[in-house]
Amino acid sequence: MELKALSAVVLSFVTLVAAAPATCTLPSTYRWNSTGALASPKSGWVSLKDFSHVIYNGQHLVWGSTHDTGTIWGSMNFGLFSDWSNMATASQNKMTPGTVAPTVFYFAPKNIWVLAYQWGPTTFSYLTSSNPSSVNGWSSPQPLFSGSISGSSPLDQTVIGDSTNMYLFFAGDDGKIYRASMPIGNFPGSFGSTSTVVLSDERNNLFEAVQVYTVSGQKQYLMIVEAIGANGRYFRSFTATNLGGTWTPQATSESQPFAGKANSGATWTNDISHGDLIRSNPDQTMTIDPCNLQFLYQGRATNSGGDYGLLPYRPGLLTLQR
Ligand SMILES: *[C@@H]1O[C@H](CO)[C@@H](O)[C@H](O)[C@H]1NC(C)=O
Repeated sequence: MELKALSAVVLSFVTLVAAAPATCTLPSTYRWNSTGALASPKSGWVSLKDFSHVIYNGQHLVWGSTHDTGTIWGSMNFGLFSDWSNMATASQNKMTPGTVAPTVFYFAPKNIWVLAYQWGPTTFSYLTSSNPSSVNGWSSPQPLFSGSISGSSPLDQTVIGDSTNMYLFFAGDDGKIYRASMPIGNFPGSFGSTSTVVLSDERNNLFEAVQVYTVSGQKQYLMIVEAIGANGRYFRSFTATNLGGTWTPQATSESQPFAGKANSGATWTNDISHGDLIRSNPDQTMTIDPCNLQFLYQGRATNSGGDYGLLPYRPGLLTLQR
């Protein structure tokens, strides 16, 4: 090869390497650090929970559940903030009616934002909007799923799509994770009323708060599920190569969990509970970047206890340590 041609090849190789995003794989053993509690609920609420996070207009948009001083669950969002250190002073905006355990994402094929939630008119419902940062201007509730499960109630839905299908995953506080699906062209719409069990174990091992993500740069999907451990709530992880396929245990023990007291680095909370991994894309693929893994979770003071609804859950952020 002529020198000139060779240098052209070398140059285009260098350009290619420079343009390609760095790719990472998920670690087999997770180790995190943690912030303290990032925000406290405003007056009238005892807890902020079940977070769903996207980057919107270059800022953090966080939706969550609330619990008041009595027995009422509800939902809210934070006013947009640019840095996690600003979460404490961001406005807290009540959603009416409440959309408990919200899942917020951008549905790219139809250029619309979707907010899925539990305990609406149907088992799971959804709203749509062109502005996900407002608690106003959402559509009326539409049915997302109308099925039931035997011996328990569906809760903690999440939604994820690949290029051909949309999938609904949910838990039931019953040791099972359930899945339903539909062609992506039918979404937003109802997943109907039938579901399939994709994971089954003891109740405490597959309790709730299931989340499913596309792992950027890998042909891999990550599922995390909240478990009840001897030392608090923690997350177990599973991976799959197909959203409609089977899930393989990844980091599933309380001593070496996906995230829990054993590896969170958090000192203010024993519980690493319901939240959202920080997505690198707000769309329906629920994509996470394994090079920059962070987890917005709910925790509570180590000395708290009593009535579950009144537990003082607050947001915290884990950052993966490599
Ligand atoms: C966590 O670790 C990251 C580096 O991975 C660092 O930038 C960050 O400041 C740490 N956060 C805390 C709360 O210690």
